[in-house]
Amino acid sequence: MSRLFAPFTQRSLAMRNRIAVSPMCQYSAIDGMPDAWHLVHLGSRAVGGAGVVMAEATAVSPEGRISPADTGLWNDAQAQAWAPVAAFVRAQGAVPAVQLAHAGRKASTRVPWEGRLGVAPEDGGWQVMGPSAVAYDAGYPHPAVLDAAGIGTVIDDFRAAARRALDAGFQLVEIHAAHGYLLHQFLSPLTNARDDAWGGSFDQRIRLTLAVIAAVREVWPERLPLWLRISATDAAAGGWDLEQSIALCSRLRDAGVDLVDVSSGGLVPWQQIDTGPGYQVPFAGAIRRATGIATGAVGLITSAAQAEDVLAREDADMVLMGRELLRNPYFPQHAARELGADVPVPVQYARAW
Ligand SMILES: Cc1cc2nc3c(=O)[nH]c(=O)nc-3n(C[C@H](O)[C@H](O)[C@H](O)COP(=O)(O)O)c2cc1C
Repeated sequence: MSRLFAPFTQRSLAMRNRIAVSPMCQYSAIDGMPDAWHLVHLGSRAVGGAGVVMAEATAVSPEGRISPADTGLWNDAQAQAWAPVAAFVRAQGAVPAVQLAHAGRKASTRVPWEGRLGVAPEDGGWQVMGPSAVAYDAGYPHPAVLDAAGIGTVIDDFRAAARRALDAGFQLVEIHAAHGYLLHQFLSPLTNARDDAWGGSFDQRIRLTLAVIAAVREVWPERLPLWLRISATDAAAGGWDLEQSIALCSRLRDAGVDLVDVSSGGLVPWQQIDTGPGYQVPFAGAIRRATGIATGAVGLITSAAQAEDVLAREDADMVLMGRELLRNPYFPQHAARELGADVPVPVQYARAW
């Protein structure tokens, strides 16, 4: 029996297998609106057989966008534009999911293929915000410090975006607290130099993430799972690390989180990460074993045997795949055959198999 193709149920939601499309920004939206690109991109991966198809980091407010071309869920028109995407993914037997995000000090940058640096206000950029007044790097925007009212707005924006995600037909929401974006900026002592109730001690640095989870859980139904993506480590001296990740994750089940999607890095440019096949999997395993919470493993998982092995070693409950699924949306169909399992083929394509 293939573990990769064993169904997985969280709350009342059944996932047909353990493969999730990792959230990947397409930087192809205008005014935060998903369009035909997003339908075809996410739809193809649902047709390809993934169990969960997660839409990209989708901004909870215009200022929360990484770039002007990010998708959003800060207004109802965006929710309506997402609805056919979610419906199509679901009709193919996959779970439609969306990652909710706020980029904080890493907002207002150019799309990657134009070079990541800050967008000037005259080119559509905006004032970015963060826990403290330190830019990510030279050439990046200088953040304004969020005051208590601004923090309250961020929490409200996550709650409202989660409600719109539900209206749009998504069945799973992931909160983005990784990769050096706003929630991660509050978590890490390297980027959070506040001396109020939102910084300083570990409990105060994790406060915003817990507040966002609580706000999302107010509107996200009991019957549906909530995931959280973290960077398990900043891979930089004095930063957030695995020990703090475990301490945070030990509180997450009670907070209503059903799975921690374990990535790493992204906080500071001087991070030192040796990438290689499955390089982040040990973090997912350590968190799972220490806290008992379900985990997702991600990062250079590219073959059926490797993905199967992650699950066999009980390092994770789900495998998230990014670039391999960009190269090959039909990876799950091929992997199923390799592992002697089954993924339903769309009837329209049955003659191909
Ligand atoms: C084009 C692209 C866009 C990405 N956008 C996001 C994103 O929106 N949110 C996120 O958490 N990670 C994002 N990532 C990171 C991926 O989700 C994933 O964690 C990373 O690529 C490692 O997995 P892989 O080796 O399977 O690609 C992105 C990666 C790529 C390649």
